[in-house]
Amino acid sequence: MSVPRPAAVIVLAAGEGTRMKSQTPKVLHELCGRALVDHMLAAARDLGPEQLIVVIGHALEQVGGHLAATSPDARAVVQREQRGTGHAVRTVLEEVGTISGTVLVTYGDVPLLRTQTLAALLERHATDGNAVTVLTAEVPDPAGYGRIIRDEGGAVLEIVEEKDASPEQRAIKEMNSGIYAFDGELLADAVKRVSTDNAQGEEYLTDVLAILRGDGHRVGACVAGDHVEVEGVNDRVQLAAARKVLNQRLLEAHMRAGVTIIDPAGTWIDVGVRIGPDTVIHPGTQLHGDTVIETGAEIGPATTLTDTRVGEGAVVRNAVCDGAEIGPEASVGPYAYLRPGTVLGRRSKAGTFVEMKNTQVGERSKVPHLSYAGDATIGDDVNIGAAVVFVNYDGVDKHRSTVRDGAFLGCDTMVVAPVTIGDGAYTAAGSVINADVPPGAIGVARARQRNIEKWVLRRRAGTKSAAAAERALAGQEQQETKQ
Ligand code: UD1
Ligand code: CA
Repeated sequence: MSVPRPAAVIVLAAGEGTRMKSQTPKVLHELCGRALVDHMLAAARDLGPEQLIVVIGHALEQVGGHLAATSPDARAVVQREQRGTGHAVRTVLEEVGTISGTVLVTYGDVPLLRTQTLAALLERHATDGNAVTVLTAEVPDPAGYGRIIRDEGGAVLEIVEEKDASPEQRAIKEMNSGIYAFDGELLADAVKRVSTDNAQGEEYLTDVLAILRGDGHRVGACVAGDHVEVEGVNDRVQLAAARKVLNQRLLEAHMRAGVTIIDPAGTWIDVGVRIGPDTVIHPGTQLHGDTVIETGAEIGPATTLTDTRVGEGAVVRNAVCDGAEIGPEASVGPYAYLRPGTVLGRRSKAGTFVEMKNTQVGERSKVPHLSYAGDATIGDDVNIGAAVVFVNYDGVDKHRSTVRDGAFLGCDTMVVAPVTIGDGAYTAAGSVINADVPPGAIGVARARQRNIEKWVLRRRAGTKSAAAAERALAGQEQQETKQ
């Protein structure tokens, strides 16, 4: 399908969206890792328009700031007062001037709309030589929408808003999506002639159809195959419904590209996530932001990855990872928390109840159980025993520690930063290491054990412990007398 490039796409996003009941402007609500308006902009961008324009008004600073940061290619036009969709378009054309060529008008709150549907609208508009072509859909419940009024021959006559419609017109199931392709020059002229003589006292963009038709121009419609795509998000119930639809679309694309998803209903993947083939995603997994997973990895169950890279063949189970880099064939979890700056080398391990932050772990090094590593540099082939803590914070500043290649840290070693444990060095279990350990040495930093004989018999007489001790000691004496 060869699609004519539009001269401009105008995205209307000045309204308040009161039904969201939110401090956050509606178009900035998040859906699969992107704000609502950004979904529309992404679909519009794929059409290659010469100009991308967003009309903003409500929560000007917030929405304007967001667009400036995320869509520098879009021009924001401010509509100070929201006096209707027609007024919004008129405001744009007064600011940027008449646009010649095709102008696509759409909304910031229709995140499910696909580029291919917009392309079909543009194609119909071009092949029929229309002055305006409206995207419509048959919906089971058209309440709240403008209705498409056609003559007996099926030609589009006008759009009537629900509030202005007669009971017969309200029975019509074909709704106005609010998305149109216009001839830019005809639009510029017609939009000036829209009145506010209607139930809402607004300038309706919908009136442009009847105006152009009255001028003798061709007016047409393109019926969307799937009405779900053109339905906007107005409240959080619709937001959740849209999330489900979009998530399912994303999952299907991944599955068709070779990713196994065990439980699509319980897996949530953002639009920006990339996954290599033959990776298996287990139930309860959420993949957010710019997460990238290479080929043949195993993710989940119950794992949340945000902006995390996972290497080929790595296994990540019951983990929360944020801004981490997990090397090829590395193993994470079950029950691990990797925070920003964690870099795990090839075949390394961050095991059960392990937390890491700003820590690099070399190849084949293992941190298997119950440990915290913060601000540490760990070399290759290092073994970290259970319950080792990198004590990185003195209450004021954070300090780094280094563990060099081949070192072996005994269980319950406290590595009090800043400290360096040399190549191949050991630490004795239970040591509080606050001085460097030279290569090949063992650092022993714990009190020597002393046993006080029969203390329990004297000080805990009558307890089960004392009784057990008495039995054991009596047994020992019998043994000794026999010998
Ligand atoms: C509009 C259509 C209706 C259609 C429906 C589809 C008109 C008169 N009616 O109704 O036929 O079925 O959309 O959802 O166009 N906006 C502005 N500035 C304004 C007014 C609105 O930017 O002054 C933006 C809003 O932010 C929103 C969009 O335009 O994104 C639609 O506005 P809304 O008030 O929701 O229009 P509806 O009454 O739903
Ligand atoms: Ca609406």
